[in-house]
Amino acid sequence: MAPETIVLLSSREIAKMRQAGRLAAKLLDHLKPMVKPGVSTQELNDEAEKWTKAHGAISAPLGYHDFPKSICTSVNEVVCHGIPNPKQILREGDIINIDVTPILEGYHGDTSKTFFVGTPSPTAKKLVEVTYECMMRGIAAVKPGGRIGDIGAAIQEYAEGNGFSVVRDFVGHGVNRIFHTAPQIPHYGTRGKGKRLRPGMVFTIEPMINEGTWEVEILADKWTALTKDRKLSAQFEHTVAVTTEGVEILTLPEEEAQIKSA
Ligand code: MF3
Ligand code: CO
Ligand code: CO
Repeated sequence: MAPETIVLLSSREIAKMRQAGRLAAKLLDHLKPMVKPGVSTQELNDEAEKWTKAHGAISAPLGYHDFPKSICTSVNEVVCHGIPNPKQILREGDIINIDVTPILEGYHGDTSKTFFVGTPSPTAKKLVEVTYECMMRGIAAVKPGGRIGDIGAAIQEYAEGNGFSVVRDFVGHGVNRIFHTAPQIPHYGTRGKGKRLRPGMVFTIEPMINEGTWEVEILADKWTALTKDRKLSAQFEHTVAVTTEGVEILTLPEEEAQIKSA
C-alpha cells in the first residue's frame, strides 16, 4: 500500500485499537502519581516499560528509528521526543509531557498528557489548560464528511486567541498496525480545506502549543525538539476514530470512554 493511502479500519480493527488505546490511557494513569519533584525521567521510563510488558504489550518507541527509550518525556521547553535520562530529575514547577505508545496484539495506542510537577507558574498553568482545550476542540471538529483542515483551524484559533503559537514541524498522524501513517493532521489550517474525513479513519490529534515562537530546534541527539526561544511548550494527544455518528476517542480509560456524536 502506498504510504499516502488512508486506510479505513473495520469495526473489528477499531475494537483492537480501542483495547490498545485503553491500555495506553491506563499506563498514563499509572505513571501520574510518580510525577513528583525528585523523580528522574529514566525512572518513569523504566516503570512504563515494566508495566507495558506485564500487560502483554510492547513499547513502540523503543528502537523506533533508533529511538533509545520506551516513552518520550518532554520537560518545559522540550516540545516533543524528549529522551528519558537518569540524570534528568524533575523539579518543583516543571511541566512534563509523557507520551506512551503500547502495541497490544499488533495495534498501537498513542496518547500523551502534560503533567505539573508540584505547583505550576500562572503561565505554565494557562499554557497547559489551553493546550488541553485545543486538543478537545480539535477532536470536536471531527465528523464524517468534514475536512482535515477543520481540525487544525479549531486548534489554531483557540491557541492564538489565547496568545500562544502552534508548532508546525510535527503533526498528528494515521495510526493502526503502523505507528505513523497517512493522513497527516496539522494542528493549524483552514476550515473546509484538506482531505475529507470518512468513517473508519483512525488518527491522532496531538497539538504542541508554545508560550512564545512556534519555531523549534532539534538537539544533536537527533530527537529532542525544543522551542527556539526556550519558552515553554505543552502537548496532549489522543488517538481517535471517525465514526458514522461523529468521533470516538480510543485512548480513554474504560470508565471514561464514551462515544461523542456529531
Ligand atoms: N508517540 C509519538 C507520537 O505521538 C512518537 C514518538 S516516536 C519516538 O507520534 F520514536 F520518539 F518514540
Ligand atoms: Co504519541
Ligand atoms: Co502520535
